[in-house]
Amino acid sequence: MKRHLISAGDLTKDDALLILDTAEELASVSERSIKKLPTLRGRTVVNLFFEDSTRTRISFEAAAKRLSADVINFSAKGSSVSKGESLKDTALTLEAMGADAVVIRHGSSGAPHRLANWVHGSVVNAGDGTHEHPTQALLDAFSMRRRLGALEGRRITIVGDVLHSRVARSNVLLLGTLGAEVTLVAPPTLLPVSVGTWPCEVSYDLDAVLPKSDVVMMLRVQKERMNAAYFPSEREYSRRYGLDRDRFAKMPDDAIVMHPGPMNRGMEIAAEVADSARSTIVEQVANGVTIRMAVLYLLLGGETA
Ligand code: CP
Repeated sequence: MKRHLISAGDLTKDDALLILDTAEELASVSERSIKKLPTLRGRTVVNLFFEDSTRTRISFEAAAKRLSADVINFSAKGSSVSKGESLKDTALTLEAMGADAVVIRHGSSGAPHRLANWVHGSVVNAGDGTHEHPTQALLDAFSMRRRLGALEGRRITIVGDVLHSRVARSNVLLLGTLGAEVTLVAPPTLLPVSVGTWPCEVSYDLDAVLPKSDVVMMLRVQKERMNAAYFPSEREYSRRYGLDRDRFAKMPDDAIVMHPGPMNRGMEIAAEVADSARSTIVEQVANGVTIRMAVLYLLLGGETA
């Protein structure tokens, strides 16, 4: 595996399977009453969050602590970033405090790549702009594998605001590497211009794709990134692309529903679908800790330098 995890596309099939298999071994730790391993004792993980997060920030913190690493949490709000301090100076300040790994979420696509040129430790991309979110894709693949078995030949449908979704891009790359067949379903306005070069199929007809899906992953409509009208109204979006009870009934009986969170309940997904037994949404959060433990363990090696 490379020193950094910036793009799901950087992972070979062997790398991805190593992370998933390591996470499977580490999963038992999360089920113990004392959820701690001494593996990263003496190592320091910095969580550098320039954008809001609930799941990713907390799960990286929990993952590092379960491996006994020291954790420094940095949030841009309330820091010297508000006084104009640059990403580079912020990163060098944190490195001076001895960071062995920097986990970064940033609003700008490419920020983790830039950071990797400035620090000596490993950089983990926790979501950069509309670009990538590789650990989300890994936890999604882990969640699918736990429910369905091997992903080779599985039909995964990803629905919604692909244009603004770093989750969609990372999932298309990773699932393709793992041998799954991915179909994106979205209104034409919410697909990137370059989608024709992505290793997946594209459809505008959710009702036609649902009966052929082993997994249906709904994406959040990212209103905060929209500076124009991408669809006539929320009601119209929901009518054509929302997963409601009637659409859920069109899925095969053993197919599962996923969502990376946070959800717009009632818009892209009905509450009763999100809360059904075939939804993995809560499992995905728990699996996020396990996958991030595996990533930190494999990047930091568990050995003291
Ligand atoms: N799925 C995800 O990245 O959620 P957060 O924004 O809460 O971290």
